[in-house]
Amino acid sequence: MSNVICVDGPAASGKSTVSKLVAKRTGYLYVDSGALYRIVTWLALEAEIDTSSSEAVAEFVRRVRVDFTTREGRVAYEVRGEEPGDRIRTPNINAHVSPVSAVPEVRALVTGWLRGMRSLGNLVVEGRDIGSVVFPESPNRFYLDADPEERARRRLKEDVAKGFADKGAVEKVKESILNRDKIDSTRKTAPLMIPEGAMRIDTTELSIDEVAEKIVSNIK
Ligand code: DC
Repeated sequence: MSNVICVDGPAASGKSTVSKLVAKRTGYLYVDSGALYRIVTWLALEAEIDTSSSEAVAEFVRRVRVDFTTREGRVAYEVRGEEPGDRIRTPNINAHVSPVSAVPEVRALVTGWLRGMRSLGNLVVEGRDIGSVVFPESPNRFYLDADPEERARRRLKEDVAKGFADKGAVEKVKESILNRDKIDSTRKTAPLMIPEGAMRIDTTELSIDEVAEKIVSNIK
């Protein structure tokens, strides 16, 4: 069985950037689990499914097909032969992804996909329930966190770069992040939490490099 490094944490805690760097330094494949929930959400919205109905989402998800391949040090996802790119990162997807990902059938599907990826090699997997539910047996489990203000600043910077927000929108971004945290950490199935025995890292005042170094030097 391949090794898995689990990196969990709330929105904009630095998980993606740090996990990509850890993957680069260790030669492990980078896996973005949130992108899989985003893909399901994107396809559901495209199919005009009522995402507030968990029955409708559960029924729809049985028809979702995603292909997996490795590309440039990461596990890449293809829908109808194409990577979805930024189409899964719009504010509209942000607004719908938490309720969709709270549906148990969606979680079961994504968890199965993630576990299957071990056949592709060693993995750095970032998400919300990776160390608690998907790979609880992994000895390498980390939980990143940062102050909400700092997280809002980071997310706004990304959104401005993608053309999804203007610079003055920090309060709006913070509200959206906190709203997502609330849904993610209070849902019944696999809520966001610090996995038992995981190492918690507060990234508020640390550079990406420092956080990655902390993880790499603690890999068992
Ligand atoms: O990390 P992200 O912002 O791309 O994640 C999008 C959403 O997907 C997040 O709000 C909750 C959900 N998610 C989850 O429930 N479990 C994971 N392992 C990863 C993401």
